[in-house]
Amino acid sequence: MRLHPSERFSCSAPWHPAGFLIGSLLISLLLIGTGRAESRGDAKLGKIVYAKHCAACHGQKGDGLGSRSTLPNFTDAKTMAAKTDQELFNKISSGGKGTGMPAYNKVLAEQDRWHVLAYIRTLSNPSP
Ligand code: HEC
Repeated sequence: MRLHPSERFSCSAPWHPAGFLIGSLLISLLLIGTGRAESRGDAKLGKIVYAKHCAACHGQKGDGLGSRSTLPNFTDAKTMAAKTDQELFNKISSGGKGTGMPAYNKVLAEQDRWHVLAYIRTLSNPSP
């Protein structure tokens, strides 16, 4: 049976917007799932903050091999995956309270703390 051109159109057309919708929904779910500090800070700017304020203790590469050896290893994906952005952000902001990790809430603007956190996250990212 041959379809009239208008029937064919009305039959296949709905699939295009639907496929597009489902596709973009999946992509946004993926983005939410993998969404980390990168969405709240700019790692490129954070790298500058890190070099100035953090590298002396945490090491240029963030592996904790700076002037102190008991430091967390930001390049270790397992360690970093166990911490939420909020936990790390709070630590950067309020410090370790006696551990040697300084509080940066008076030193760095809130946005800069998110930038540096975004940068730290890239250090354990296998494909930045
Ligand atoms: C004077 C040395 C020193 C400097 C400077 C320093 N830190 Fe730390 N940091 C530490 C120490 C020691 C620890 C481990 C003890 C603790 O968690 O409180 C730590 C822990 C942390 C943690 C917790 C990691 C975890 O796995 O829980 C984060 C995040 C962190 N530092 C980020 C930063 C950032 C970002 C900067 C720069 C803005 C910075 N630190 C500067 C000494 C330092």
